[in-house]
Amino acid sequence: MSAFRSIEWKNDQLRLLDQRQLPAITTYNDYKDYKEVAKAITTMVVRGAPAIGVTAAFGLAIAARQSAATTMTDFLADLDQAGAHLMAARPTAVNLDWAVQHLLTLAKETAEVAVLPDVVAIAALQKTLLTEAQGLCQADIEICQQLGTHAQALIPNPATVIHHCNTGALAAVDYGTAIGIIRVAHEQGKKIHVFLDETRPRLQGASLSAYEMKAFEIPHTVIVDGASGYVMSTRKIDACIVGCDRVAANGDVANKIGTYNLAIVARAHNVPFYVACPTSTLDMTLKSGDEINIEERAATEITEVKGQQITPDDTPVFNPAFDVTPADYISAIITEKGIVYPPYVDNLQQLLKA
Ligand code: MRU
Repeated sequence: MSAFRSIEWKNDQLRLLDQRQLPAITTYNDYKDYKEVAKAITTMVVRGAPAIGVTAAFGLAIAARQSAATTMTDFLADLDQAGAHLMAARPTAVNLDWAVQHLLTLAKETAEVAVLPDVVAIAALQKTLLTEAQGLCQADIEICQQLGTHAQALIPNPATVIHHCNTGALAAVDYGTAIGIIRVAHEQGKKIHVFLDETRPRLQGASLSAYEMKAFEIPHTVIVDGASGYVMSTRKIDACIVGCDRVAANGDVANKIGTYNLAIVARAHNVPFYVACPTSTLDMTLKSGDEINIEERAATEITEVKGQQITPDDTPVFNPAFDVTPADYISAIITEKGIVYPPYVDNLQQLLKA
């Protein structure tokens, strides 16, 4: 288990590690209002697709406890409203919608078969939703460990890899996805070295991934995003490993901005490009990455560094937080159910059916 915890249900409230303060300050915020939970997601107190999903599940469980409804109809309406509010917190990571819809469906199905008076059934459902959120929280750790274990078939020993953004224990509940793979390799005694893209503009690689690599004593080197081509052309790189925020049915991958550039450079150097993807990040309702809603964030993420303006006044900027890497650039998609190879259109369907 990690020495830090991104998300925890503690003292009957939600506790989030404030990732905006890392690595300098380790501080936790407590939540018992679902709107504050949504705000924590929007403002990136908590970030990373799996972590956002689990946080939103707790947000909905908190909303259930906040509801003053005395009829089941009103209670479900309150949940729907809270669910919509939580799902609007960030648009790209599908885990957010997945977790909220999962709890809403559970609430509706449980309500349909309830035989007790509404006030009693509502009280029971409030407990059920919290238990379910806690279950998703625990399951996330196991899913990441399974994904990391499956991936070892692709990780040689020794291995040198390039990683983008942060996909570790801070982006999930523990272990994480792409960094989970690196961590399992390290735990299995493989000699693994990771180059960490700093990941402009929020610097998740430099501040969060490096923080985790240091904590787990995994050999690492931080590089600027633009250095990956030079690193691939001058060193033996065995793989690029990245996470994802939403994967379409054809295998197109939305992930942190800069992922697509890295994939192109990897293709140019014949370096395998692997995507770590819990099945909750698959969005089989979307045919291709063209349909993925890409979040645009505040201009100040680019125009300022630590509150200090670095561009001339009124400089126009464009700040998409994610990009889409076409499936053609992806050597394999690694899930907790196994490794998927192209053609993804068929093989992702097969994986989910199995
Ligand atoms: O904007 P963020 O920090 O929430 O971005 C999400 C990510 O951490 C990455 O895109 C990541 O690769 C997917 S989450 C394991």
